[in-house]
Order: sequence, then structure tokens, then C-alpha cells
Amino acid sequence: MSIPDAAEIPAKVAELAQGWSIEPVWRNKLGGVTFRIERGTSVRFVKHTPRDPEVSVDDEAERLAWAARWIAVPRVVAHGADGAHEWIVTEAVAGENAVSPRWTADPETAVRALGSGLRAMHDALPVDGCPFDWGVASRVANAAERGIEVPGAFRSAPPIDRLVVCHGDACAPNTLLADDGSVAAHVDLGALGVADRWADLAPAILSCGWNYGEGWGDTLLEAYGVERDDERLAFYTGLWNET
Ligand SMILES: Nc1ncnc2c1ncn2[C@@H]1O[C@H](COP(=O)(O)OP(=O)(O)OP(=O)(O)O)[C@@H](O)[C@H]1O
Ligand SMILES: [Mg+2]
Repeated sequence: MSIPDAAEIPAKVAELAQGWSIEPVWRNKLGGVTFRIERGTSVRFVKHTPRDPEVSVDDEAERLAWAARWIAVPRVVAHGADGAHEWIVTEAVAGENAVSPRWTADPETAVRALGSGLRAMHDALPVDGCPFDWGVASRVANAAERGIEVPGAFRSAPPIDRLVVCHGDACAPNTLLADDGSVAAHVDLGALGVADRWADLAPAILSCGWNYGEGWGDTLLEAYGVERDDERLAFYTGLWNET
């Protein structure tokens, strides 16, 4: 997962771009690439990726439409799939990837924004009426469908601390920051669903380690506004790594 220097433009992306200029901006772990396309003042993003058995663009489109009532997320223009690949086209939302060179050079600001932005998202999305589940049982079942057997230690969670609508992939690159260092928007909501808030906090802290270096966990928790809970962090970090 990284910002690519260059990438081949798949025929499907060229077709979707309809002559707009095309620039690669992100490569995911499956080798899929997100492109920024532009014509005049119009900007969109085209994610074109090998089909992901964990989460589909249908899941993502459905969740973006639901979450848009309460938080800033991209509007979906089109999405689809063929045998091997899937794609989703969204209107650009303002903000810069939290792992862009600008923000990796200023980790303190970025990590604080990730913490407070995650808290704002958790506070804004209503658990009541949320049709999506990201609880431990559904994650274990999703992993099983992909042939992954989650060890027993990560199948039964500690008691719920606070049930929220989780992002589902609260890694730094899925957060866009505004110029002033606040969160502008969240992207990549394909796994969004109801779960304990520590299910998001654990990968958020892990991703700070990958993107900004070790030692930022307590800064993130302080910005989120919660005391460190080692038991729940250990559980949800383990579950994240196993699934
Ligand atoms: N509508 C949008 N507006 C602004 N930036 C966007 C938009 N959609 C995608 N991006 C940018 O493209 C990047 C990749 O998009 P996205 O996270 O959906 O792809 P992904 O392949 O699912 O990522 P991951 O590597 O996390 O699995 C985002 O991190 C963000 O920087
Ligand atoms: Mg992403």
C-alpha cells in the first residue's frame, strides 16, 4: 500500500475517464490502483482493483450512501465489476491523504487529527438503525469464507466498551486531512459497521506505526479522548492481524 510513481492504465479506467487526464495516486495490497481523473474544475477518483474477497465495491457504495447523511464521504458516480476486477468512481472530496509527504513530515498534527477525526466519526454515526455489522462474529465468518481460521483466542471479545459505527479500516491513508490539519473526510468505507470502538482504535494505532514510526499510540488515544485499554487493544490488534 503506497503512493505509486507510475502505473499502467487499465482499459476500463481509460474508458471510465472518457478523455479526462489520469494520474495514479494509490496502490493497494492486491495491486489495485486508484487514479485521480480531472477535466477543467471536475475531479474524480477511480479505484480499479482485483476483486477483494473481504469487501466489494458494492459493499463500499452501499455504506458510502448510508454514511453520507452524517459525515463527509465521497459521492459515488459509478461502480461495477467484471470477472477479475472491480471499480468504483467517486467525486473528489477535499483533503490530502494523511500519509502524503506533507503529513508524514508532521506526524504530531496528523496523528492528533486521526484520533480526533475518528472520535468525531464515531460520535456522528448512529448505531441505532445502522444496517451494517462489523462485530467479531461477522469478521470471523468473513475470514472463514476466505479460508482463514481465526484462532480461538480472537473469537470471543472482551465485553463491549462502547458500541459505535466503526470505519472498518481506520488506517491513516483512509483519512483525508484539510490544510489546517483537521480531518476533511473519510474514504474506503467498505467494511463500515457496528462494533466496539476498540476495533477501529487498534488498527488506527497499528497504522500510525507503519506510517509515522513507533510511539504515537498514546497521542492518538489522547486526541480521541480515551484512556489506553491494553486488554481490548491486544484483542483487536490480534483480530486485525489474524483476519
Ligand atoms: N473521492 C475521493 N476523494 C479524494 N481522495 C480519494 C477519493 N477516493 C480515493 N481517494 C484517495 O485514493 C486513495 C485510495 O482509495 P481507497 O482507500 O478507496 O483505495 P483502496 O485500494 O481500498 O485502499 P487500501 O490500500 O486502504 O485498501 C485514498 O487513500 C485517497 O487518498
Ligand atoms: Mg484505502
